[in-house]
Amino acid sequence: MTTKTLEQKTFPSARFKTAIPGPKAKAAIEKDKHWISGSYTRSYPLVAKRGRGAMVEDVDGNEFMDFAAGIAVCSTGHCHPHVVQAIQKQASELIHMSGTDFYYESMAQLAERLSKSAPMKGPHKVYYGNSGTEAIEAALKLARYHTKRPYVIAFYNSFHGRTMGALSLTASKVQQRRGYAPVSPAVTHVPYPHTFRRPEGTDAKQYAIDCARFIEEKVLKTTLPPEEVAAIFVEPVQGEGGYVPAPTEFLQELRAICDRHGILLVADEVQSGCGRTGKMWAIQHSGVEPDIICSAKGIASGMPLGVMMAKADVMDWKPGSHASTFGGNPVCIASAFATLDVLEGVGEGADPKNEGKGAIKNAAEVGAYMLERISGWVKKYEIVGEVRGRGLMIGVEIVKDKKSKALAGKERDRIVDELCFERGVLMLGCGETTIRISPPLIITREQADVAMDVLEESISIADEEVTAGSTGGKQMGA
Ligand SMILES: Cc1ncc(COP(=O)(O)O)c(C=O)c1O
Repeated sequence: MTTKTLEQKTFPSARFKTAIPGPKAKAAIEKDKHWISGSYTRSYPLVAKRGRGAMVEDVDGNEFMDFAAGIAVCSTGHCHPHVVQAIQKQASELIHMSGTDFYYESMAQLAERLSKSAPMKGPHKVYYGNSGTEAIEAALKLARYHTKRPYVIAFYNSFHGRTMGALSLTASKVQQRRGYAPVSPAVTHVPYPHTFRRPEGTDAKQYAIDCARFIEEKVLKTTLPPEEVAAIFVEPVQGEGGYVPAPTEFLQELRAICDRHGILLVADEVQSGCGRTGKMWAIQHSGVEPDIICSAKGIASGMPLGVMMAKADVMDWKPGSHASTFGGNPVCIASAFATLDVLEGVGEGADPKNEGKGAIKNAAEVGAYMLERISGWVKKYEIVGEVRGRGLMIGVEIVKDKKSKALAGKERDRIVDELCFERGVLMLGCGETTIRISPPLIITREQADVAMDVLEESISIADEEVTAGSTGGKQMGA
């Protein structure tokens, strides 16, 4: 440990009761190693026991501030009382019926409510699954069914899920595909405009437009007949790829290409949706209307629910074409209703401590405050290449040095997995070299300040280590 680590004055050494990991956490991890699939990617030894708001307590009674929110899922924080109450009430009334074969009122009621905040004009229809990947599978199948076209286009560094159809769209990390070939050969990947890494000397806006133009000027002229392309799948903010917002001009150009060729535009808002960016849907920042939108993660505060919403005339498949035994389960739907109350600040979901405003508004305000506070890190620290994002979906891209912008995955991992964790703040990486800031949408400015103090201290330590040429701490895995 460096001297700075020992001197740490920020949150929350006082909240630790044992060394990290403590004895119970160590035992749980040993057991996990024996029993649990080796495919999971745990970055640090946090063994969670209970959570409340933005705080998580581990099995040894140590408290952490959660700026990962269960991978951007706990939009309303951990165990929001309004959400817990809704889940408990529904669980005591009806847990399961299967919307595939039977009716229950809440399926259509939630669809009606979601339709009101849809990013495209109605009428809409809604399909329910259990996860993000299922929402994407459904969109992929619907796009082919409706257009009767085979091909789809997606972007490099995108993440759309891990089931075989969604995996064919995913182009995030090679390990996610290794050993699973063949995936669908009907997907073509094209560059996504990560403007920080655009070719030197090019204009950021023009580069973003050129990325979209490449589809029409190259792909649709050389390899994919446009009349055989069903859909373009895009994340309005690339999530797992590094928290990279799509420039508005890029999305506008995609929309125009789709319109010219009868291609559907599918917005994957599994990570960026449900208020995370300060609007219900991230694509609403651009004014571009998709034909289909996919959601999951934050929509039910941690209960498994995937949603695929389409324009009603697009969702024209016939009975039996697609379904799910559990999709749109009554308990998950009840949780989604309560989540929307909190996000929109409606009824008992409104936070009296917060002037009754909803969590989406809070995400916009606290996110803007945080972004302004930390933007200066680019000038202050050699290893901070870029700070970007919207609302509470903020990425800090770490580089070896400003000039080369070389990827600094090990340094990023040291900051997130060691320095922040040791200081009691939970974060995750995303992309090859980015720190992902995705707290619950209910956080206060004070909590944001505490977490940003910890992150800054951690970055400054890593910055000194890089400048001094040492790796610091323990050697992190690749
Ligand atoms: C943009 C996006 N799409 C799809 C998925 C897949 O969601 P799930 O893990 O719920 O299947 C994810 C998960 O991280 C995601 O970020």
